[in-house]
Amino acid sequence: MNILILGSGGRESAFAWKVAQSAHCDKLFIAPGNAGTTQYGTNVNIKVTDFEGIKALVLKEDINLVLVGPEEPLVKGVHDFFLADEQLKNIPVVGPQQEGAQLEGSKDFSKQFMERHNIPTAAYRTFTKDTLQDGLTYLATAGLPVVLKADGLAAGKGVLICLTLEEAQTELTAMLADAKFGEASSRVVVEQFLTGIELSVFVMTDGNSYKILPEAKDYKRIGEGDTGLNTGGMGSISPVPFADAAYMKKVEERVITPTIEGLKKDGIPYKGFIFIGLMNSNGEPWVIEYNCRMGDPETESVMRRIDSDFVDLLLGVAEGNLNEKEIIISTKTAATVVMVAGGYPGEYLKNKVITGTENVRDSIVFHAGTSMDGNDVITTGGRVLAITTVQDNMFSALQQATADASRIYYDGMYFRKDIGFDLL
Ligand code: AMP
Ligand code: GLY
Repeated sequence: MNILILGSGGRESAFAWKVAQSAHCDKLFIAPGNAGTTQYGTNVNIKVTDFEGIKALVLKEDINLVLVGPEEPLVKGVHDFFLADEQLKNIPVVGPQQEGAQLEGSKDFSKQFMERHNIPTAAYRTFTKDTLQDGLTYLATAGLPVVLKADGLAAGKGVLICLTLEEAQTELTAMLADAKFGEASSRVVVEQFLTGIELSVFVMTDGNSYKILPEAKDYKRIGEGDTGLNTGGMGSISPVPFADAAYMKKVEERVITPTIEGLKKDGIPYKGFIFIGLMNSNGEPWVIEYNCRMGDPETESVMRRIDSDFVDLLLGVAEGNLNEKEIIISTKTAATVVMVAGGYPGEYLKNKVITGTENVRDSIVFHAGTSMDGNDVITTGGRVLAITTVQDNMFSALQQATADASRIYYDGMYFRKDIGFDLL
């Protein structure tokens, strides 16, 4: 069968690497892809939100399955677009329809969903411009720190952790009255601050049954020792030692099963991935957020621990027989180190020539923000490459990924040398 992956980051590179190995895969297309995805398939320069362009490609290349990487096309309804089109309606899309994508597209929707289905999450209230005064009063009674979340998608910037009441009131006003994050902050969720260690849990579902994929830990801050500005993610590790069988049993019973059952009870069809961002507080899981897609850079580590045919699992999602499929997970450790552009996550350098990828010894170089410039591979995004290795133990994995990252060079290149070392 012919398969199309939508997206262009490290996550989509890892998907492409894995899908290309499947016995089910004849031709693989990636739209738009990056300089690295051409190793696994054919790039097609179409934006992930250009639904008409995607339709033309799917019909021209006789695509039989579409795997959606990022949230934006899902929240904008790419799956619904397929279902509503006579020529596309029988071509399966892995990724939820618009309603299910609201789990990520609206923080208020996801909080109400969790409340309705008794899924453990931080206490919250939602405010709008009309209820700003109530919000300011509420903040005065809420404990500190307090978390403010723009309801809609805000390119990963919509969450503010405020340490003082003054800061919280100023920010709430800026978000609601001055549209700090545009339409995304026309509603704001004010939430209790949770302490603990974060964990990324991934579930694949056909709407009825589910498979739990390998869990991972993501490193979000730019600086070593988890300092400095938030980024899209600077590295990941899988498995995560504290997420042992007893812990994952709690996660399954308290979070995963009620989530899948909740979607069914609410009549929300869902075929795709659910990424559950958890806070582990003294051994108890609390949901921080849902995403309607896989994580990046978690996917790079997760794909490398799945030993079974990934397309077979995707077909289980598409055809509604995921319960009949088997997922084989490696017991080895995968580690990913993300190499970023100088200046990232602020204004960053672009168009720098990348050299040395051929010197990498025992990792896969998943491309993210890269393009071709003649025969050169150049940097075009903030997160440039994800270096992923699999080793027998965590220490070797961390060491190998870090050593391999240091074999690559471009002007201004930076990566964290402490990914995962907090877990050793
Ligand atoms: P989100 O966009 O919901 O993933 O939030 C971004 C980040 O903010 C999360 O990954 C956490 O690090 C942090 N965060 C969000 N909500 C909370 C909370 N209730 N308590 C503590 N940290 C939080
Ligand atoms: N690594 C976090 C995310 O993909 O949102």
